[in-house]
Amino acid sequence: MKKLTGINKFKFVIQFSDFSLDLRRLFVILLLGLFLFFVSFSLKINPIIVLLLLSIVLYIDFIYRKNLFCKPQNLLYLILIFVLIFVSSFFLISRGYSIYFIPFSIAPMLITLLFNDLITSLIITISLSLSVSLMSANNVLIGILFLISGLVSSVLVFDARTRNTVIRGGIITGIIQAFSLLFMDNFIISNHQGYLLLVANGFLCSVVVLGSTPVFEYLFNTITNISLLELADFHHPLLNRMIMEAPGTYHHSLIVGNISELACEAVGANTLLARVGAYYHDIGKLEKPEYFSENQAIKVSKHESLPANMSKLIIINHVKEGFELAKAHRLNPRIIDFIQQHHGTGLVYYFYRRALEALEEDQEVKEEGFRYPGPKPNTKETAIVLLADSVEAATRAMKEPNVPKIEEIVHKIINNKFIDGQLDECDLTLKDLEKISNVFIRILTGIYHTRINYPDEKLLRDHKKTAKEFDLGPNQEQGAS
Ligand SMILES: [Fe+2]
Ligand SMILES: [Fe+2]
Repeated sequence: MKKLTGINKFKFVIQFSDFSLDLRRLFVILLLGLFLFFVSFSLKINPIIVLLLLSIVLYIDFIYRKNLFCKPQNLLYLILIFVLIFVSSFFLISRGYSIYFIPFSIAPMLITLLFNDLITSLIITISLSLSVSLMSANNVLIGILFLISGLVSSVLVFDARTRNTVIRGGIITGIIQAFSLLFMDNFIISNHQGYLLLVANGFLCSVVVLGSTPVFEYLFNTITNISLLELADFHHPLLNRMIMEAPGTYHHSLIVGNISELACEAVGANTLLARVGAYYHDIGKLEKPEYFSENQAIKVSKHESLPANMSKLIIINHVKEGFELAKAHRLNPRIIDFIQQHHGTGLVYYFYRRALEALEEDQEVKEEGFRYPGPKPNTKETAIVLLADSVEAATRAMKEPNVPKIEEIVHKIINNKFIDGQLDECDLTLKDLEKISNVFIRILTGIYHTRINYPDEKLLRDHKKTAKEFDLGPNQEQGAS
């Protein structure tokens, strides 16, 4: 039996040993249930539909919310999609309109696009088709027709990367709806108007889905693959500026994007989101690109003439400036997360050490003052970009990168981030970290490892080797990451 371990009075959360129950969410669901029973009673709708809806809400809330819903209100928006289709179906059926007008496939298509999750779409499709069936005098065939249509449309738009895929999905859904009707009519072509209406219905649903996606992206605090690909276009003003004003940062972002994408693939995270998030993670450097080592054409660093405190401020501010720039360009909140979280609450170690070295007797240097403001990464994707960002910068700063050195630095950085608590708020497991480090090593070795030195050259360089070679040097700390 699960043991009650405490009640958080401020967050209204009952904490069990491995499970938490948010009382506010429960309260919202109870209120919703009462409201729906009241509506069903006044409109004379079968109360089974209400019970069905409530069980879906509870199911999704308790089983799936960890993966799908960062915020409790997202569950309400999901219900909103259900209710929109439910109400329009009820309106059309009660007014005696043809069921062929019901815009059924809007819900499964929208949910699949917004959450990239077929199971949630399947749950909503089953419950909606049952509801429509119950509303149209228990007509099972209508329920089956819409069930097929919902399943087909979800599968067709799953992982869609272009608008054309959605439109094509809508047209095929329409054709399959018409075929289902033909099948129900025992292949006797009798209802020409019905077939045409169902084909048009599928197409129009896809048009409505494309038109309403930006609104739901905003409401759900999510982003579809289509919008991500639009942001990946290098003609976007911010990326364009980066190419012109901070080419080093642009190159760094491209590599971070590529290695993050492959690492996400290894652990089952959203590859496209990580790649596009990485493209934008350092846009804050556009304000003062010359203070970041990857954009410095000359060997002498701009920071050499500055006190450590001032340098630290410039470096840390690129997160804040990136956030403001992203807001000004109305970037999607999921992309802004990468800008804010890609350093977590990490320490700007190089300048912290420099401040300690320059310390006078009665002075004090607080570590907190040299940390990024955060927050820490709260998704697998942002955590992977945080790791990719650091390992790319450190590998690039190496004098003679080779396989053992790259392996060592990758393991060292991942361990340090883990010990420093930067990965505490994301869902990455130790097994995931192992897979991620393998990907990083494989790709970075391919990119950075140098040619084999000639013996004389090698002897000379071995002589110059120092024990501090793997320390995070100024090249990295000056904001290469
Ligand atoms: Fe970076
Ligand atoms: Fe950065």
